[in-house]
Amino acid sequence: MVNVLFVCLGNICRSPMAEAVFRHIVQEEGLADQIKVDSAGTSNWHIGKRPHEGTLAKLEELNVSSAGMSGRQLEVNDLEEFDYIIGMDESNIGNIREILNEPSHPKIFRFLDLTDLRKDVPDPYYTGDFDETHELIIEGSHALLRKIKAEHQLI
Ligand code: 4NP
Repeated sequence: MVNVLFVCLGNICRSPMAEAVFRHIVQEEGLADQIKVDSAGTSNWHIGKRPHEGTLAKLEELNVSSAGMSGRQLEVNDLEEFDYIIGMDESNIGNIREILNEPSHPKIFRFLDLTDLRKDVPDPYYTGDFDETHELIIEGSHALLRKIKAEHQLI
């Protein structure tokens, strides 16, 4: 089993959207029994909360399930539990390294560094633009799936 963790600040906008979208793609590819997906926030601000209404609206529009998702905070154990710990922006990466007490590890990286874009996923909590965030998450997700397939010899 390959374990993927998406991380943002609040775990209500970007990382739950990435979790749901990536899980959907994994299911479509028939890899649901081989790739497990989760998300977490670096803050403790929204523990137990459902995703932001903008994220939920976007997922509903796309017929992507958000069932069972609720906010949680990144914890030290996650470093062992997960094979890929993916921050949405550079500031998330700094916070992840601090919480996990791990200055530099190849399993910790910024999502869009897997693409030619090499930039932060903008935070729709501030921009209000959930469509833009979704488009970037789709792009990152395809790159991530290619990486996982190559690194784990999945078909
Ligand atoms: P996220 O966005 O990190 O993509 O979930 C945010 C959600 C909540 C807050 C900030 C960013 N907040 O300040 O509560």
